Amino acid sequence: MKVGVVGAGFVGSTAAYALVLRGVCSELVLVDRDEDRAQAEAEDIAHAAPVSHGTRVWHGEHSELAGAQVVILTAGANQKPGESRLDLLEKNADIFRELVPQITRAAPDAVLLVTSNPVDLLTDLATQLAPGQPVIGSGTVLDSARFRHLMAQHAGVDGTHAHGYVLGEHGDSEVLAWSSAMVAGMPVADFMQAQNLPWNDEVRTEIDRGTRHAAASIIEGKRATYYGIGAALARITEAVLRDRRAVLTVSAPTPEYGVSLSLPRIVGRQGVLSTLHPKLTGDEQQKLEQSAGVLRGFKQQLGL
Ligand code: LAC
Repeated sequence: MKVGVVGAGFVGSTAAYALVLRGVCSELVLVDRDEDRAQAEAEDIAHAAPVSHGTRVWHGEHSELAGAQVVILTAGANQKPGESRLDLLEKNADIFRELVPQITRAAPDAVLLVTSNPVDLLTDLATQLAPGQPVIGSGTVLDSARFRHLMAQHAGVDGTHAHGYVLGEHGDSEVLAWSSAMVAGMPVADFMQAQNLPWNDEVRTEIDRGTRHAAASIIEGKRATYYGIGAALARITEAVLRDRRAVLTVSAPTPEYGVSLSLPRIVGRQGVLSTLHPKLTGDEQQKLEQSAGVLRGFKQQLGL
């Protein structure tokens, strides 16, 4: 199995590294207009292969993407301190208009996995630029992981036993679906009560803030986020390559909201196999519709 990663910056090279460590694919090619960077990242990551799963890693032009089953799009500017993901729209949309046709020419059968921000709108744009080719956005897979991590921290369990979805925009208007949040197979409130742990609006607000503002906080401290998103991209790619039918809050065109946004979706070899519509409270549904409204406003700006 072959994966292409377009963009050898922090996110792309970390995603490539995560794919090698997990042994998700047998071949991995890094593409970047800064060839020196692509070459150096590919060589560095290739040195991990003999002590992990033997993935063949190299760098090249877009033509080297031929035969890839998944191409991960990480190219573009990332947020600077104080910048929102939506602030990157015009700049990254222009990059995509040039980039996506080159990718589809080289790898017309690949599932395109978009992660450049604003990921929901760039997922819409890539879908338009690659008609008939499956396009998935990493969406709120990372935000759901952050939500699970923080819930698990309060619950005193490891994050694989906390489950919760973040829906809508991968951004400031995202929605934490508290009504379906679970720990150890129980509604989170029941678990906390059973464990005599504090569970109130203050705790939930702290978890919400920690989820929603995680990127801004990390970017303040180290200029970029890449480990969480890199692992999320490896997980989504594995779900596609191995036809896992994994339930992940990826972003994809969502006709009932008129824009790409994140809902729980079953992900397999053909990309999004189906979209799930969790039962939400009135307040959660209203916030999801508000989030969709924010994205539609910017979608019009793109002329999509
Ligand atoms: C973040 C970037 C990937 O949320 O948008 O860290």
